[in-house]
Amino acid sequence: MTKMWGGRFSEGPDEVLWRFTVDHSDRRLLAEDIAGSLAHVAMLGGAGLLDPGEAAALTGGLEAISEEAAQGVFVFFEEDEDVHSAVERRLGELVGEAAGKLHTGRSRNDQAALDLRLHLLRTAEERTAGLAEFALAMVGAAEKAGRTVVPGYTHLQQAQAVPFAHHLLAYAVMAWRDIQRFRGVRERLAVSPLGAGALGGSSLPIDPDRSAELLELDGRFVNSMDAVAARDHVAEYAFACTQAMVHLSRLAEECVLWATAEFGWATFSDALTTGSSAMPHKKNPDIAELTRGRAAMAIGSLTGLMSLQKGLPMTYNRDLQEDKAAVFALDDALAGSLEAMTALIGSADFHPPPPDPSVTALDLAEALVERGVPFRAAHHAVGRLLSALAAEGRTLAEAAPADLEEVDPRFRPEDPALTDPVESVRRRRSKGGANFTSVEEQIEYLRELLAAP
Ligand code: ARG
Repeated sequence: MTKMWGGRFSEGPDEVLWRFTVDHSDRRLLAEDIAGSLAHVAMLGGAGLLDPGEAAALTGGLEAISEEAAQGVFVFFEEDEDVHSAVERRLGELVGEAAGKLHTGRSRNDQAALDLRLHLLRTAEERTAGLAEFALAMVGAAEKAGRTVVPGYTHLQQAQAVPFAHHLLAYAVMAWRDIQRFRGVRERLAVSPLGAGALGGSSLPIDPDRSAELLELDGRFVNSMDAVAARDHVAEYAFACTQAMVHLSRLAEECVLWATAEFGWATFSDALTTGSSAMPHKKNPDIAELTRGRAAMAIGSLTGLMSLQKGLPMTYNRDLQEDKAAVFALDDALAGSLEAMTALIGSADFHPPPPDPSVTALDLAEALVERGVPFRAAHHAVGRLLSALAAEGRTLAEAAPADLEEVDPRFRPEDPALTDPVESVRRRRSKGGANFTSVEEQIEYLRELLAAP
């Protein structure tokens, strides 16, 4: 079969070349490719580059292809080099010679750039919706957690008592920022490269502003060379996906820990865990593990997209074809992980044990601070108390008023009550801190934000 670019070639492409250079990843861009061509045809008609009959024929043909695509009956041939060639070939089958006018004033370089922009604009909306659902699952779990108090950790050592809800809501806040990141990328994506041609535009009276308008994008490219060479918007989209994956991965790691006998914080539903082929007692959190694993692969794809750009001379280079496989892999990883982790959290039965009383050490120190003791001195006094108790094999919960007074006379007889972790949370009052009022405020705030993400 003669290629669309076959004019100067004395023989057809070798099978080796074909196998190596053709990548079917872009078949996913079929709908966007047709949409781009429809706008292009409308622009060409308006600019007088197609007569009304030609414009109508091409539009009719493209609409028929669009219908085939929507029904899932569009047929790709092995000989189609990419999605753009496939659509143009099919248009020829449907409308005959007029199809040869479709590529007027256009190149596959601006076309490929446009298709991916249109696609990512759509998937950004889907990922935003998925992130909102996930965040709402975290808010729901936080509501269910009520006033349960757990150890909050730093260095994976028990640090301060916190409402379990506060811990869960941290992930909802992260997801909200991930949503905002997708919103931000939108601005860079919604710029039309159509009309840049191969790299330098055209001698024909094409109208890139009109193309952008027809595509309902924010505007056209500023520089035609940049329009076909740039992929920073793809990398930015990839970063939005990767950062969201990394957030999910942190939660996934916690889910794995929580499901251990050692932590014993969570039980996931049977339907969302897997068994072992060898050990009858096993119940494995595979969803969490694979989310963590796919975050690793996502980082690889993001790194790939950055590296892909760094050594390329202006303008389009075939290397750029690799952008699609990388960003699609990332986007799929996020879509799948969001769905699975949302289900896992929704199914979870949380039953975390209470914190060790030592998490109230800061509260004892702050009681002294309220009485005018410099914080550093208060810290030392409580440190001495802990070491004296440890020497006798006692915990902070077992401290008597006399033990406290011995390290600092400003401790009062009622102060041992401060060693209750629930009391520690109840007394905490700083804004946004780990206390029950803050949790209520966060739930209300997040529900409002997530209602219209
Ligand atoms: N399949 C190509 C890609 O994805 C389309 C652009 C091809 N352009 C070219 N001059 N060979 O990048």
